Parts: sequence; structure tokens; C-alpha cells
Amino acid sequence: MTQPITLITGCSSGIGLVTAVELARAGHRVYATMRDPGKKDALLAACAEAGVEVELLPLDLTDRTTIDAAAEHVRSTEGRLTNLVNNAGFSYLGVLEDFSDEEIYDQFNTNVFGVLRVTRAFLPLMRADDSPKRTLVVVSSTAGRAVYPLMGLYSATKFALIALVEEWRFELRTLGIRAVAVEPYSTKTEFAGASLKRPAKWSDGPDSPYAEILGIVPRWFTEMTHGKEAVDPRIVARTIRRAINARNPGLHWVSGAYAKLAMFFKRFAPNEFTTWVVRRKAGIAGLRRRK
Ligand SMILES: NC(=O)c1ccc[n+]([C@@H]2O[C@H](COP(=O)([O-])OP(=O)(O)OC[C@H]3O[C@@H](n4cnc5c(N)ncnc54)[C@H](OP(=O)(O)O)[C@@H]3O)[C@@H](O)[C@H]2O)c1
Repeated sequence: MTQPITLITGCSSGIGLVTAVELARAGHRVYATMRDPGKKDALLAACAEAGVEVELLPLDLTDRTTIDAAAEHVRSTEGRLTNLVNNAGFSYLGVLEDFSDEEIYDQFNTNVFGVLRVTRAFLPLMRADDSPKRTLVVVSSTAGRAVYPLMGLYSATKFALIALVEEWRFELRTLGIRAVAVEPYSTKTEFAGASLKRPAKWSDGPDSPYAEILGIVPRWFTEMTHGKEAVDPRIVARTIRRAINARNPGLHWVSGAYAKLAMFFKRFAPNEFTTWVVRRKAGIAGLRRRK
């Protein structure tokens, strides 16, 4: 069997970093990309510890020049690509009324338009590969099927990714390329730390209609993303590897026990019940009506 070649976005930290190591260990030739190659040390240290090597390439989802340069590099070096893992992404936290047009565009530019840019650039190389298991992986989220308070803008991008993956499953099936969505829940990465953005406007003043929700939800968000519900990113990396290795992969690859529980409720419980559970968990179920 020819060696699978896999390109991954967002490998400077978190899920992308550990997935690069996981797939290199599984025998893939890995192109680990990041927008700032100055952040390569953590990945190189993890590779050294695992006794594997990866190829580093600069790639920023918002910069077409870097995407085209990376695709040209893989084309001239390999002539093909077996798997593409669209992992890079980030979240804003805030009430929808506070976001500027630029901030809304910023969220969609990376998480949705960036995934479209990268995938469209690499699909010709995936068509040139002849593996029966060529796989387009898109890292969405449980937030791509259920909304959590103050994460609605981010959720909108992850819901959009599910639509794109469903469309790719139509378009790419006859070309022999499988498309899957990997859906983690809280995972211990920089997602809720250095990578998290807030809108410049944050209406938590005493007269703000959003003062209570903005006072309560960020604390819950920190607990959820750093507490016992948050899983090790290697669990997500293993889910990605399993999806790529599957004979006939389905659309949804829910990753982690809490993710499975959340998606079970989302699927089988009435919407009113699941939103009530989330409001309770987030601490906003008891808020009184304001003007
Ligand atoms: N952690 C969670 O709880 C969780 C849950 C569900 C889904 N996810 C999804 O998992 C994926 C990976 O996130 P993570 O948890 O591993 O967080 P992370 O540690 O913050 O990693 C995010 C990666 O994306 C990169 N990135 C951000 N914007 C980029 C851009 N414009 N171009 C290229 N790279 C960019 C970051 O690069 P820099 O280092 O340069 O910022 C970093 O390498 C994301 O799509 C996220 O939405 C995460």
C-alpha cells in the first residue's frame, strides 16, 4: 500500500498538534501546517518524544497566498494528497448584539470561508491520489449541532461546516473521496485560553440588558472548558484517525463521552428540555425577565 499523505491545519497547538503526531505514528506522511511557524517548538518537541517526523508548512486560513503556496509545495513534492484535516478554528464569546461587522466577518472568515479556501485548493491533489480511503475531515463541534450561551456566533460557523460536509458527501462520493465531520465537546487546548476572542464591546455595565448573562456565563464557560468534562485532545486525534481508517465512514464523528451524551440528548430529547438543561448548567435558568 502506498503511504498516505495527510495535511492538517492549525498544528501549533491543541487538536491539530496531537493529530499530526498521532497520524505520523500511524505511518502517514504528515504536512503539519500553522499560520505562524515561529510557534513550531511544541509540535517538534511532541514529535521528538514520539519518535516521528512531520513536514512543517506555513498556512493561514485567511490568506489565500499561503494556501496556494502550500498546495503548490505538496503538488511539486508529492503530486497527490490522501487526506485533508481541516482543524484550525477559534471561537468568540459574547452576546450577538455586541459584535461589530468586522468581528462577525473575522469569525466566519477563519472557521467557514477558510475551510472552503483550503479544501478547494487541495481537492485537485486529493483527486490525484488513488487510495480507496481518501478522506476530507472537517473539525466541527458539538456546538455545530447544539448552541451554548454566548457561543452563538461560533456555533453558526460550526453549523455551517456541517452543511458543507453534507454537500461534499454528495459531490465527492463518486470521486471516491469521503467527507466526515469530527465533533468534539470541551477539549483541553488553547481554545478557551489564548485562542478565545471577545468582542471589543462588552455590555456588562449596570444598565446593560445583558449584564447578568455576561456576568454569569463566562464563569461557567471557564469551568466547562477546564473542568472534568474537558477531555484530552488525544481522544479527538484518535477519533480523526478512526474516521480516516473506517471502511465506510458516516457523517458525524462525535468525540468523547460527554460529546456522545450531549448529542444523544440533542437527538432524542425535546428541544425545550435540552435548552433548559443548558440554561441550568450555564447558571442562567433563574434569571428574571428584564426590559
Ligand atoms: N477545544 C475545544 O473545546 C473544542 C471543542 C470543539 C471543537 N473544537 C475545534 O477544534 C479545532 C482545533 O481547536 P483546538 O481546540 O485545538 O484549539 P487551539 O489549541 O486554540 O488550536 C487552534 C489552532 O487553530 C489555529 N488557527 C486559528 N486561526 C487560524 C488561521 N486563520 N489560520 C491558520 N490557523 C489558525 C491556531 O493557530 P495559532 O496558534 O496561530 O492561533 C491553532 O493552531 C477548532 O476548529 C475548534 O473550533 C475545539
